[in-house]
Amino acid sequence: MVSPLHVMWGRQPRPARLSLHSCRCGRASTVTDVAHRGQACLAGRVHGVGQKRDGGGVTAIFRVAEAEIGRDLRLQVQALLQACFAGYPSRSYFKLPPHFRYLAMTNEVLVAQMGVELRVIRVDSAVLRTFGVVDLCVSPSERSHGLAGRLLAEVTELARSCGVDFVILFADDDRLYTRAGWARAANPCSWVKVHDHTTLGLATAEDTGSLMVKRIAQRAWPVGEVDLLGHLF
Ligand SMILES: CC(C)(COP(=O)(O)OP(=O)(O)OC[C@H]1O[C@@H](n2cnc3c(N)ncnc32)[C@H](O)[C@@H]1OP(=O)(O)O)[C@@H](O)C(=O)NCCC(=O)NCCS
Repeated sequence: MVSPLHVMWGRQPRPARLSLHSCRCGRASTVTDVAHRGQACLAGRVHGVGQKRDGGGVTAIFRVAEAEIGRDLRLQVQALLQACFAGYPSRSYFKLPPHFRYLAMTNEVLVAQMGVELRVIRVDSAVLRTFGVVDLCVSPSERSHGLAGRLLAEVTELARSCGVDFVILFADDDRLYTRAGWARAANPCSWVKVHDHTTLGLATAEDTGSLMVKRIAQRAWPVGEVDLLGHLF
């Protein structure tokens, strides 16, 4: 049986193993080839999850485990994050690396990325299985074409197939997320403060003003204190 993580690209019912440093291009149209045609051939097990066409060409969307992203692509991720978020640190993650990422490539260039963390959290007495969305960003030249919305749709679909209860994120500007089915949650929250690889202690807020949740399974979002059981996404 194919695991839910093995989302297909085209007709090939298997993930591809690619190397950033030893590209051997020229195969047929599979996940492998789409990635190989790009300069930034992806390292590790890559799941082609979609394709989007507009006037600018074809954008291929991949899901890849963080640990399997090679150095060159990691540098592209870092460059995109620094171009999209003022003051982003000189690394490819803000606090800690996510578990996997969605990457969108147009004409061999990384144009969008979204980190996802699998996080068990507690709300009051309920223990919830969540995906946390981090650092969603789209290259300035590619914005307003629905790419971010597409990545959010992908993680929602994956969450449904993985038995995740909620997809959560923190955002000051809720326009994109409200449209995609997220709702504000005003629960009190606690999380582990991490700064530059140092744990500073526990932080709490009566209402972060930025927590947003999307229900995936049957259960309603609980009332009560959210214990993030880790750092803030
Ligand atoms: C937010 C962002 C990812 C949207 O990407 P996108 O591909 O343009 O998104 P979509 O085309 O699917 O949707 C566009 C809509 O998102 C909304 N939006 C724009 N900027 C936004 C922002 N910073 N936060 C939330 N929603 C935003 C607008 O309603 C926009 O509609 P418009 O194009 O008619 O103005 C992109 O603007 C970006 O990378 N911004 C910088 C990084 C950032 O702020 N990321 C969000 C972190 S929470």
